[in-house]
Amino acid sequence: MKKVNVVFGTVYGSAQFTAETVTKAIAKLGFTTKLWQPNELLDFVPPQDEFLIIVSSTTGHGDIPEDIAPWFNELKSAAPYLPALQYSLIGLGDSSYETFCGAIKKFDELLAELGAKPLTERLEIDACETMEPEIEAKTWIASWHNAVTSVSVA
Ligand SMILES: Cc1cc2nc3c(=O)[nH]c(=O)nc-3n(C[C@H](O)[C@H](O)[C@H](O)COP(=O)(O)O)c2cc1C
Repeated sequence: MKKVNVVFGTVYGSAQFTAETVTKAIAKLGFTTKLWQPNELLDFVPPQDEFLIIVSSTTGHGDIPEDIAPWFNELKSAAPYLPALQYSLIGLGDSSYETFCGAIKKFDELLAELGAKPLTERLEIDACETMEPEIEAKTWIASWHNAVTSVSVA
């Protein structure tokens, strides 16, 4: 089974907790997982033979959290070509902002520019609807797992 890299960006910790929950649930399914701390990400180019999951909240006006912004900028300027990379995105935001889940949308655009392929639809979790984003993310894992299973048998 392919390894799963989980990366998160957070301001207040919800995206981190959500990423930890997702990582543990995926490990329980039998996958080898690695939860990357934002300060470990320098020079990390997601291996194309492994899955990537990014969990990020949005800050400011549609901005990427400061802890993960250097990695975003590095990927953007290094622009590695990643056509075989399959990725999934979980955004935490608040729909009272016009820039709802702006940070994860920026990641989606960047990864598409790098040639990477979305494995699942982007999950956007709205703080107006739930105080427990990790529960929504845990439910989403079933669709992630289905997608992984169907690409593995294809
Ligand atoms: C100062 C501030 C700015 C925010 N800006 C946005 C925004 O532009 N778009 C959005 O969808 N959510 C925005 N949010 C909501 C957060 O993304 C949301 O509360 C999220 O769950 C926080 O997750 P975290 O604890 O991982 O940082 C903002 C929150 C704060 C406090």
